[in-house]
Amino acid sequence: MTGTPRPATATVVPGDADPAPEREPDERPYSPGLEGVLAGETALSQVDGARGRLLYRGYRIGDLVERGSYAAIANLLWTGDWDPGHRLPTALVPDAVLAGLRALPSDVKPMDALRTAVSAWGAMQSLDWPPTVEQARALTAFSPSALAAFARLRDGKDPVEPDPSLDLVEGFLYQLTGSRAEPGTTRALDAYFVVGAEHGFNASTFTARVVTSTRSDVASAVAAAIGTMKGPLHGGAPSEVVDQLARMGSVDRAEAWMRAALDRGERLMGFGHRVYRAYDPRAAALRKVAESMDHKPDWLQQAIEVEDVALRLLAERHPERAIKTNVEYYAAPVLQGVGLTPDLFPATFSLARTAGWTAHVLEQAGDNRLIRPDVRYVGEPERDLPG
Ligand code: COA
Repeated sequence: MTGTPRPATATVVPGDADPAPEREPDERPYSPGLEGVLAGETALSQVDGARGRLLYRGYRIGDLVERGSYAAIANLLWTGDWDPGHRLPTALVPDAVLAGLRALPSDVKPMDALRTAVSAWGAMQSLDWPPTVEQARALTAFSPSALAAFARLRDGKDPVEPDPSLDLVEGFLYQLTGSRAEPGTTRALDAYFVVGAEHGFNASTFTARVVTSTRSDVASAVAAAIGTMKGPLHGGAPSEVVDQLARMGSVDRAEAWMRAALDRGERLMGFGHRVYRAYDPRAAALRKVAESMDHKPDWLQQAIEVEDVALRLLAERHPERAIKTNVEYYAAPVLQGVGLTPDLFPATFSLARTAGWTAHVLEQAGDNRLIRPDVRYVGEPERDLPG
């Protein structure tokens, strides 16, 4: 560009030479972490944090766990129709995606592998605007196959092709292990998937809606959501629950261990929530599932006894803020009880939440407005460059 004269312009624009205008203080309200801010409207789920209730399209989560399947709940979220017999088998992983998964080092985190697979899958589809229920269904059916394939490849095993006679959760377990799961195991994991399917404007769902609001595609929205869920404050807690219980050793040592952890400023994993001030109804549903499992982890009883101590200590430390058990606490024994290794917990949570993410993508696209909030500038006032 050197030597090219700038075109003369007749338009008068405010220039650098003008004196800096006086800056008005920005008095608009700001809530760190957007806590308590209404950032949208949804008909998908109601999270009543004060009373500890969760509804999907008006139906109570406890009833859905008892009488629904993940496929039926996903369909309910996408379409609004309640069809308890709805089925959704897992889908084949395209060869190009498998080649990408094979190329990943075996110590890659499953969340990174899943995010990569979703991204590669999206690159190969014609995901036009607006997103459709069919796209939501296809992505939700693909993701379990991709995670199962990665989990096998890193162990030096071949991926297992989907069995179309199996519904999504049973199909996922089959592709993970290479054999049919016991009905009790499938039911327990299905209950976990139902409970994890949807939860209002949590960080990853909000991310998916922001991406969709730019008229980007459903795979981009879900890949971004997986990236958001990867953080330990969102989806990483259940594996840390197992870890913390192991470090405590026994119930007798739990109180001393937790007091010391809280003194060091650490958080007790599986407790606290941005919205719930009452007991998380998902934790209550999963505790029932965990206690009725055929293969309970041997530390489940320890977890139940430690929970009471943890709640007492948290109430002592934070009399101003009700910190109760959250979903992750009892997700941990369910996930371990069905035979998943802790490093697969966050990615399995992502598989479950894919129904909710994609339902939000559809809802956002149905009445879209670009999500672009404002930010208060708190930096230096306008000034001259030194020299
Ligand atoms: N253990 C110990 N202290 C906790 C706590 C926990 N699990 N959860 C919250 N607190 C404390 C914080 O230290 C903070 O205390 P301070 O004001 O003295 O610093 C206070 O309670 C408020 O915490 P804050 O982080 O502002 O609340 P939040 O609404 O943003 O937090 C979570 C929500 C989920 C991030 C938080 O409860 C947490 O980190 N929990 C542990 C991780 C977890 O289980 N995540 C899964 C969520 S489903």
